[in-house]
Amino acid sequence: MGAIAIRTDIPGPRSRALVARRTAAVPRGVAHSTTVFAESADGVRVTDVDGNVFLDFAGGIGVMNVGHSQTSVVDAVKRQAERFTHTAFSVAPYEGYITLAERLARITPGTFAKKTLFVNSGAEAIENAVKIARHATGRPGILCFEDGFHGRTLLTLSLTSKVAPYKLGFGPYIGDVLRVPYAYCYRCAYARSFPDCTIACVSAIEDHFKRHMDPQTIAAAVIEPVLGEGGFVVPPLGYLREIAALCREHGILLVADEIQTGFGRTGRMFACEHDGVEPDLLVTAKSLAAGLPLAAVVGRAELMDSPGVGGLGGTYGGNPVACAAAHAVLDEFERGDLLRRSEAIGVRIEARARAWAQQFAIVGDVRRRGAMVGVELVRNRDTREPAKHETDDVIRLACERGVLLIAAGTFGNVVRFLTPLTISDDELDEGLEVMTGCLAVASAAIAQR
Ligand SMILES: Cc1ncc(COP(=O)(O)O)c(C=O)c1O
Repeated sequence: MGAIAIRTDIPGPRSRALVARRTAAVPRGVAHSTTVFAESADGVRVTDVDGNVFLDFAGGIGVMNVGHSQTSVVDAVKRQAERFTHTAFSVAPYEGYITLAERLARITPGTFAKKTLFVNSGAEAIENAVKIARHATGRPGILCFEDGFHGRTLLTLSLTSKVAPYKLGFGPYIGDVLRVPYAYCYRCAYARSFPDCTIACVSAIEDHFKRHMDPQTIAAAVIEPVLGEGGFVVPPLGYLREIAALCREHGILLVADEIQTGFGRTGRMFACEHDGVEPDLLVTAKSLAAGLPLAAVVGRAELMDSPGVGGLGGTYGGNPVACAAAHAVLDEFERGDLLRRSEAIGVRIEARARAWAQQFAIVGDVRRRGAMVGVELVRNRDTREPAKHETDDVIRLACERGVLLIAAGTFGNVVRFLTPLTISDDELDEGLEVMTGCLAVASAAIAQR
């Protein structure tokens, strides 16, 4: 018997009642991709308030790499909550914060001396990375990339590259931002093809330096090693290395946004490792603490020490319960087989996605690094017209049939996989089978147009 159990219409009556209350009490700006309300979750399975059981292929947006309600995480959280939940690290500090900083220094790329700052969210961590880079270099500018996503605060929105819904009506944004194309080979900004292009999108940045911004005024390049919200865009190996070399040449600090790619998602602990790149500052969040709000900036000690005493911090940053959860997550990685499993999961999804590409013309591109797999859907393979509405239909149908999925991409036409890395092959196959049916429906709808 499979894991999925759909017992009511989706959404069921209790979820529908909550949708009505939610509409009255919560602003519409807080979006959700499904209308099923969670009651409990375990491993890869989410049970809703109507008793329906779903396979979670979204992992709370890449947060649950070690699985829902992982016993060691729950125990660590309980133990810490019984001791104390908060003193403020800036009032009465505690050892768990320091040990976690020590552990992150050990497992992030680079053997140089490092220090770590803990904050509450990915966006807050990016904000702090930019503050530290500006302080350390005395330069104001930031280099960022098209189709990148770095958060929803005003500074991170300035770096984020998607107007609707993220940026619409919230400006003005900070100046001193230079945005250049990412190595999005399926939609290459320079109409070139890899490998013949020899990754020309990096050398083209020199041209931007001449036309738009003096590199000597740029503090940092903020880059995702694989684009997350921007469509699970996997650049060619070597791309990040070339970006790192360009940064070194101009004295620009490299800030790797590993918020979505970190903690095993790409088959390595951090995605930078695929290219042998050691960023000056590495930003992480999401799967760091299995759902407790915690984010970190790990960086070269001398840079991290640049801001003066009191220049960094916040009331909740490095909350002791969140730190305890993160220790349990790191224990899971040390003890377990999660990195090997990440690659195996990705291989299995990719094999199925390549079969979809043979079967369904709607599949335009399949790309993968580790378990980070994106399937880009198009209305026409020649024009590559994004199949946004059809992607929405696939997500909705999948939910009705028991799989929680989310989309990505500037055009909203990429199905992304963020399953917990604890998923079994049987659970994976069951979810992929559901998706085959959903893609068949979406493909047929396009054929009938
Ligand atoms: C690559 C990346 N950077 C930054 C963020 C923002 O993180 P948060 O939502 O925790 O503020 C996200 C969130 O999806 C992300 O994927």
